[in-house]
Amino acid sequence: MPIAMITGATSGFGRAAARRFAAAGWSLILTGRRSERLEALKQELGDSVEVLTLTLDVRDAEAVARAVETLPDELGQVTCLVNNAGLALAPQPAQEVDLADWHTMIDTNITGLVNVTHALLPRLIATGAGASIINIGSVAGSWPYPGGHVYGATKAFVEQFGYNLRCDLKGTGVRVTDIAPGMAETEFTLVRTKGDQAASDALYRGTTPLQAEDIAEQIFHVATLPDHININRLEVMPTRQTWSPFTIDRD
Ligand SMILES: NC(=O)c1ccc[n+]([C@@H]2O[C@H](COP(=O)([O-])OP(=O)(O)OC[C@H]3O[C@@H](n4cnc5c(N)ncnc54)[C@H](OP(=O)(O)O)[C@@H]3O)[C@@H](O)[C@H]2O)c1
Repeated sequence: MPIAMITGATSGFGRAAARRFAAAGWSLILTGRRSERLEALKQELGDSVEVLTLTLDVRDAEAVARAVETLPDELGQVTCLVNNAGLALAPQPAQEVDLADWHTMIDTNITGLVNVTHALLPRLIATGAGASIINIGSVAGSWPYPGGHVYGATKAFVEQFGYNLRCDLKGTGVRVTDIAPGMAETEFTLVRTKGDQAASDALYRGTTPLQAEDIAEQIFHVATLPDHININRLEVMPTRQTWSPFTIDRD
């Protein structure tokens, strides 16, 4: 059976992707910091497929390397890495943000993603044809918006890192895709507002955001394409979300 390793499987896209891959019989390596949620997911999925849970902070390079080095033999030949763990903080303007929040986004969305990718690359290359790295970027990586500051910049990194990886992985069979979602209803806004459920509810009220399952379906689709197809970037928005015009400061 093919094997998927999914970071940030305790919530949102990651958890929905775990369910989608499990439904197709894939073996799973699921990571996140909240072990009780990982355990619950293992209870839910573990009867039908093999599930290994790793309580892991992606920012901890040593812990990530150790966990990947010590994968059990039967789960060592990873087919698909879903680099999903990530977060936005500080929706306020840049000039009002705590520096610590910028560092947390950089450490998680950039350093964490790089840590996991570096650890997994030898295993993915050993798998060869059909292997893939699916990075979860964001429309924020391409399209600026007020309050996007460092979050958008981290997702621009994710996009460019993926393209550059593709150059180096030429000939290995390993594919790299940046899936860039628009607005999706997960715990993302609750995290961004540091637990403000009312603000999160207000953002999604009266419209039709993407659901975690919508993105999980795209992740699974990309992972199961024929070996010779590489989708470089897949930008997915709700039909009811579009762009704003440029804004102009006037006297
Ligand atoms: N929802 C959106 O509108 C949206 C749009 C575009 C892109 N995205 C991106 O999609 C990805 C998933 O977000 P989501 O919407 O599914 O949000 P979510 O429901 O908050 O899930 C985020 C996941 O990331 C994990 N995570 C965060 N920091 C981590 C760390 N230091 N180490 C390990 N795991 C960590 C969390 O697990 P633990 O807390 O258990 O560690 C959780 O499982 C993120 O990269 C996000 O930037 C989201």
